[in-house]
Amino acid sequence: MYRTHTCGELRLTDAGKTVTLAGWVQRVRDLGPFLFVDLRDRYGITQIVVEWLDYHVKGEGGLGSFVVDPAKRAEKVETLAKLGREFVVQVSGPVRQRDNENPNLPTGEIEVLVTELKVLNAAKTPPFTIEEETDGGDELRMKYRYLDLRRANIRRNFELRHRMAMEVRNYLSAHHFLEVETPVLIKSTPEGARDFVVPSRMNSGEFYALPQSPQTFKQLLMVAGFDRYFQIVKCFRDEDLRQDRQPEFTQIDCEMAFVEQEDILNTFEGMAKHLFKSIHEVEFSEAFPRMSFDEAMKGYGCDKPDLRFGMKFQSLTPDPSPGERGEDLVRGVGFKVFDEAELVVGINAEGCAGWSRKQTDALIEFVKRPQIGATGIVFLKWTEEGLKSTVDKFYTPEHLQKWAERFCMKQGDLLCIMAGKADKTRKQLNELRLHMGDLLGLRDPKVFKPLWVIDFPLLEQDEETGRWHAMHHPFTAPKPEDAQKLFDQQDLGSVRANAYDLVINGTEIGGGSIRIHDRTMQEAMFRVLGFTDDDARYKFGFLMDAFEYGAPPHGGAAFGFDRWVSLFGHRTDIREFIAFPKNNSGRDVMIDAPSRIDQIQLDELGITVKG
Ligand code: AMO
Repeated sequence: MYRTHTCGELRLTDAGKTVTLAGWVQRVRDLGPFLFVDLRDRYGITQIVVEWLDYHVKGEGGLGSFVVDPAKRAEKVETLAKLGREFVVQVSGPVRQRDNENPNLPTGEIEVLVTELKVLNAAKTPPFTIEEETDGGDELRMKYRYLDLRRANIRRNFELRHRMAMEVRNYLSAHHFLEVETPVLIKSTPEGARDFVVPSRMNSGEFYALPQSPQTFKQLLMVAGFDRYFQIVKCFRDEDLRQDRQPEFTQIDCEMAFVEQEDILNTFEGMAKHLFKSIHEVEFSEAFPRMSFDEAMKGYGCDKPDLRFGMKFQSLTPDPSPGERGEDLVRGVGFKVFDEAELVVGINAEGCAGWSRKQTDALIEFVKRPQIGATGIVFLKWTEEGLKSTVDKFYTPEHLQKWAERFCMKQGDLLCIMAGKADKTRKQLNELRLHMGDLLGLRDPKVFKPLWVIDFPLLEQDEETGRWHAMHHPFTAPKPEDAQKLFDQQDLGSVRANAYDLVINGTEIGGGSIRIHDRTMQEAMFRVLGFTDDDARYKFGFLMDAFEYGAPPHGGAAFGFDRWVSLFGHRTDIREFIAFPKNNSGRDVMIDAPSRIDQIQLDELGITVKG
């Protein structure tokens, strides 16, 4: 038997027992006659002690003079050689109460006095310290990910991931969802990214695609009558990477038959609440708020608003969308920037009127960065001296008073106003709003604000090519009242979908829709997207054929599991919650992939590599 206990297990009640532990040497402290060693395994750290009684012997310098016993010194050197950092050792001995308790460790009241020490495997000195606080940089930790994963804080991320997967399975299983595996070598399923492709040796010149999601298969399972499906499943997308995007990531993928949008939202709101409760003991007694896509874009400049804080947009010009009204509070006094703008819109940073010129200049610098590309910000502050703006030479105090009223401004507040083309300006103001939220500490990762964003447009148009793209994916159904527009190819921008996203703290955690389940409608959709009938049949004939054999009405959703776990772990980088992630260039630096393959393999596949 390698061990009687783990390194996280022993307590004061175990004192007196003789135990055997096995683990990694994290740290050794040499105190002369004692060696204190932190022994670590997955479950924790236990202090072990090696001690030499009579380490000091009487010296020759007369009364009171002591020297180290050479035999004991030799023993200690031998022991130290067995206790290099990250050596794998097995120790046995009695458990005893510690003199200096460590209140930070669950095992902090005891130690194990070593009577036997065996090295199970030696280790090279690790390239970084394997403790919660490490000196290793990102690339180095990724190259030696197996060492990085030994760190307790990283390991806890995977304990959280495991618990969440269990709770998801518990909830969905209790609600009659069946977990079904779908294939990985498939034909392209478009979700808006590029496919990773795999050449087929047996079918020369032909390729499989790795699934961007199991979308078509889960729909086929509904045609098959499975009624409720789920899968915790790997998806693959060849797209630019960010903190919340990996080329392979995991979805909680779900589909339900004979449902309307309301049934789906209720089911998955239930799952989200179950996770909040079981993992964080957070209870939401009310339903999650719902916001239309239009409302989100107008109020927050994005389709995933962070509701942990306010600063909702207010405009000082009428909204340019058709049929919208509103009083114009800025145009016609000769301030060109506002006169020429399609939209003048701002946020109220409460309590920030005292910000210095340096601070407001930094905000301007922030929005002028090329990633945001704005031209500037107009400020209006309300201090003890009254309202003061950076455009006072154009506007009268009465003007400014009206602006203040529109924003329900109070003394002490600061308005940040931006102007330009409506959509672009809203996006830029969204960046500023989030930045202000960060600066003011309003985005506490321990606070959770979920919401559903609903009523997405079915299609969006590429400004340059004029082509229509599915906003969600091509299998999403239009709202019944808008369906005719799809067949007529008229007024396509106004077609809405029963599509929805679950947003938590400004992150898109998941999304889904009611699907098309009728061949003619699916064909019309493909035509709108610019597919020829032949092309549509070649790529998705199998699905449209299935629709002719009794496809039930159905819909579903998928949730980004890595994102959800990292949100619950109060972090923003999903790589910390993926055991072996890729770096930002899509490389696994540990196994060094992607890599070249042998000429023989290439020849078998009939592939010629250029360059
Ligand atoms: P969608 O494309 O919105 O929908 O994906 C669902 C969720 O998956 C997560 N996600 C990602 N997470 C990490 N890295 C990525 N590269 C990545 N891409 C997406 C997001 C997203 O909300 N088949 C549809 C779902 C459906 O209609 O049922 C789909 O895949 O959190």
